[in-house]
Amino acid sequence: MRDILIEYINWGQQLELALRSSRTANLIKLEPVDGVVFTGMGGSGIVGDVVAEYLEEVTEVPVAVVKSYRLPRYVRKGWLTVAISYSGNTLETIYAVREAVRRGATVAAISSGGRLLEVARELHLPYVAIEAGLLPRVAFPSLLAGTSAVLRDLLGVDLGLSKGLRVLEDVDGALKLSERLAAFLTGGVPVFVATEELYPLALRAKNEFNENSKVVCKVEVIPEWGHNDIVGWEGSRRGFKVVVFRYGGNSLTDFAARYIAELGHEVEVVDVDRGSYIESILYGSWVVGLASVILGRSLGVDPSETRSIVAYKEFLANLLPP
Ligand code: F6R
Repeated sequence: MRDILIEYINWGQQLELALRSSRTANLIKLEPVDGVVFTGMGGSGIVGDVVAEYLEEVTEVPVAVVKSYRLPRYVRKGWLTVAISYSGNTLETIYAVREAVRRGATVAAISSGGRLLEVARELHLPYVAIEAGLLPRVAFPSLLAGTSAVLRDLLGVDLGLSKGLRVLEDVDGALKLSERLAAFLTGGVPVFVATEELYPLALRAKNEFNENSKVVCKVEVIPEWGHNDIVGWEGSRRGFKVVVFRYGGNSLTDFAARYIAELGHEVEVVDVDRGSYIESILYGSWVVGLASVILGRSLGVDPSETRSIVAYKEFLANLLPP
């Protein structure tokens, strides 16, 4: 069994190395863009969610996230498509890239190899080649650093990722919090609740517990939460373990935590605030990654293997000609 706990523990070193080595090849001078679309799936696609949320706060350009082989009609010449795939062989991402190229959009790629890097090299697209050899979900710091390089070099946007190194230093603190979280989640269906801005973290948490612990999870997003999910909690069904992510003083988050607890459900509030948005997302992602491996081990599963994703990808390969 591959020990991915140690690979998560080493995120600080991974990020440091990636920040030093991430360089955009085939760099071009880009005119102001009409919009930016991030395309990628799973452990790579989540980077698009994080960065899109950040860009929506700091730029006025329309930003979209696509997790599909289909590209929205509005993506065309004048748009920047940022394709993220750790393996470089994810069919949905390759299809979206091909379509973006066909429509004359600018395409940039972040990958450790595979078809995506081949296409980028063949077509002289801007790309960042990142270190291979990790599982995509474990390579989150590298994928984020690669994407950060593309944003800096093509759009002049600084994610402030180097500050993130600081939050990955306290391994003991993160492990302690992760062990507590894994213990809390044992024996129940994890439900991750967050405000919109922390949605990428709640989604990341769901994905991590799906893949590393092999458990079904749910995500609820505030404020939409207050218009439907909230009613579900009134019901008699039990057995949920509710994690509410907190970032800064947010009274809606506190209301949700209190309300669900008052209805008799088990709730744990996890404060991920570490200063900036990126630092907080990075720290929260670190903790849920560690916790999901710890929970997986305690459930007797191999956190590193994801045979169902392999089965899905094989099926898809028969549907979509390469
Ligand atoms: C595996 C994982 C998956 C992959 C997804 C897409 O660690 O996290 O969710 O990320 O199947 O593959 P890539 O990332 O290679 O494009």
